[in-house]
Amino acid sequence: MMNTETIAKTINKYGNDREHLMLILRDLEAQSGMNVLDTDTLTEVAEQMNIPQSAVAGFLGFYTMFKKSPRAKYLIRVCKSGPCHVMGSRTIFDEVEDLLGIKPGEATKDGMFYLEKCECLGVCSVAPAMMVNYDIHGNLTKESLKKIFDDYRKKEPEFGEECGPEVEEKACILDNDGQTKRLLADIGKVDPLSVDSYVQTGGYKSAEKAIKGIKPAEIIDIMKDSGLRGRGGAGFPAGMKWSFVTKGDMQKYVICNADEGEPGTYKDRILMEGNPHLLIEGMMICGYTIGATEGYIYVRGEFRRAIMRLQKAIDQAREKGILGKNLFGSGFDFDVFIKEGGGAYVCGEETSLINSMEGKRGYPRFKPPFPGGSGFMNLPSNVNNVETYMSVPMIIDKGADWYKEMGPSFCSGTKLYCLSGKLNETGLVELPMGTTMRELIDKYGKGIKGGKKFKFAHVGGSAGGILGEDLMDLPLDIDSTTKAGVTLGSGVVMVADEDTCPVDYMLQILDFFEHESCGQCVPCRVGTSHLNYYAKKFASRTAKVEDIDAMVAKAQLMKNGSLCALGQSPILPITTMLKYFRADFEKHCDPSYSCPECDRSLKRYFSEGSH
Ligand code: FES
Repeated sequence: MMNTETIAKTINKYGNDREHLMLILRDLEAQSGMNVLDTDTLTEVAEQMNIPQSAVAGFLGFYTMFKKSPRAKYLIRVCKSGPCHVMGSRTIFDEVEDLLGIKPGEATKDGMFYLEKCECLGVCSVAPAMMVNYDIHGNLTKESLKKIFDDYRKKEPEFGEECGPEVEEKACILDNDGQTKRLLADIGKVDPLSVDSYVQTGGYKSAEKAIKGIKPAEIIDIMKDSGLRGRGGAGFPAGMKWSFVTKGDMQKYVICNADEGEPGTYKDRILMEGNPHLLIEGMMICGYTIGATEGYIYVRGEFRRAIMRLQKAIDQAREKGILGKNLFGSGFDFDVFIKEGGGAYVCGEETSLINSMEGKRGYPRFKPPFPGGSGFMNLPSNVNNVETYMSVPMIIDKGADWYKEMGPSFCSGTKLYCLSGKLNETGLVELPMGTTMRELIDKYGKGIKGGKKFKFAHVGGSAGGILGEDLMDLPLDIDSTTKAGVTLGSGVVMVADEDTCPVDYMLQILDFFEHESCGQCVPCRVGTSHLNYYAKKFASRTAKVEDIDAMVAKAQLMKNGSLCALGQSPILPITTMLKYFRADFEKHCDPSYSCPECDRSLKRYFSEGSH
C-alpha cells in the first residue's frame, strides 16, 4: 500500500470532492511505478475523501485503464479495434509474444512489461498501433517493436511528459491538393505550446468581438443561420441546442465532449493537439452566449498529449488574463478545466460523460431531462464536441453566410473525414460536408492498397453502417447517409479489401460492443453478450442458418429496449453487413467451410488472456 502521507498529498493537490476522484486515482497509479492501485490504497483514499469504499471500488472497476492486480513498469496496450484489426493487430500480438514471451494479461519476469488488449487508441491512420504507458506508437512492424522495447529498457517511466514522438499530429493529416481546410488551416502553423503564437494569428479576436460587441441572442441567431450541426454523430443544430440553455440566472456549464472513442476516429485528438486555444476560444463564446462562467473539457484518458497541451494552453491563457475574470474588460468571467476519462467508450454518451465528470461510474442517465436542463451537478449544461466548438470562432469572425458557402444548405460547413484501413494513404482530410466515398477513396486515399479490390467501407465507426460499391457516390453528410439507411457518425471511413472476411470483421465489432457495454440496462448487457456469442458461432462454423435472423432479432430488441445509443447501435452494422454479405454468413454455417481469418481471430482473441 502507498503511504498515507503520499495519498493525503495527492488528494490535497486536486481537492477532496468526489468529482476529482479520476485524477487522484490516475496520479496515484502513476506514482505506484507499476501501473497498479491496490485494495489498501483504495480503502485509504475512500477514508480520506469520505466516500464509501464500495463507491471507490465500483468506480475503479468500471474504467478499463485501472487495475488492482500488479502490472509492470511499462504497460503495453495493443489495439484490436476495427482499423487496427484489418491492418494486422493479430500479427502485432504474435510479435510482442515472441519478443517478450508474454501473453495478454501477463508481465515479463523482470517486472518491466505487461501486455493488454485494448480498443481504439485514436491513432487509426497509423494502424496497427499500441500505447506504452502513455506513449503512442503506430505503423508497427517486428523491427520497430524490437527497437521500441529496447529503448524502454534503457529509461525510467515518467508521468506527465508529452507522449512519444512517433505519432505527430502532422503525420496523421493528408496534405493533398483540393482540400478545403478551415479547422486544419492553422495546424502546423500555430505553435500549440504558445498562446502568443495563437494570438499572433488572430486568435481570441472572435471571442473579443463576440463578448464586447454582440448580444447573446444575436449569437444564437448567427449560429442558427450558419447551419452548423453538431459533429459528434447526432447532428443536432448547434444554435438551437445553445438556445435551450440560455434561460434562467443559475450557474450553467459549457462541456466539451472530447471522449473520442469511436473506433476509426482521431480528428478531435489532432485538433486538440495541434490548436488547443481554438477549442478554448469556441467554448468561451458559447459560455458568454448561454451565460456560463465555467467550461469543462472531458478528454479520453488515453489522449495524454492532448491533455498536456490543453492544460498548458489553459495555464497560459489564465496568465495572460484571457481566461479568468473580466475577459477583455467586458465584466464577463470564464474559466476552463479538464476532466479525464478512464477508458470507457460509453462515456462518449453525454449523460455518461457527465456522471463520469462527477466522479461516478459512467452510466447513462434517463432522458429527459437532457443536459440542457439538468447536466453537470444537475445544472443546465451545453454539450458539444471538439469539432463543433472549434467551428464557432470562424463563424463569428467571417459570418454565417461565409460559413454556409460550403456544404449542403441543410448541413453546412466542412467535415473532417478520418480515413483508415486498406488504402494507399490514410489520414485526416477536411472537405465540404457531403463529399462522396468515391472521392475520398480514389483521390485522397489514393486507391486500395496493393491494387486489391474494394470490399466494403465501415462508415461512422463501430456503431456505423457498412457501405458497398453501390453507395460509392452517396454524399457523406448527416442527412443523405441517414436517408440511405446508414450514418455519417463521427466521419470515419474505414476501408476493407477483398481479403477481409465479413464474418471475422463482424466478430471484432460485436466483441467490441460486449466489452464496452456498461451493463446498466439489461437489453444491452445481455444483448451484447448474446450478439458476441452468435458472432463466435459463425466464426467457429458451429452456427445454423436460422441464427442469422435470430442475431438480427436480438439486435432489434436491443435497439428498442436499450437505455442509450450503445445498445441501440449494433443493429446497424449487422443489418448493413448482411445486406452485402449474407452469403458469407451462410457459408460459415457449414462446419466443413475453411476460414483461416476467423480461425486466427478465435485463437488470438478468444482462447487466452482478457481485456
Ligand atoms: Fe486502433 Fe483506432 S488506434 S483502431
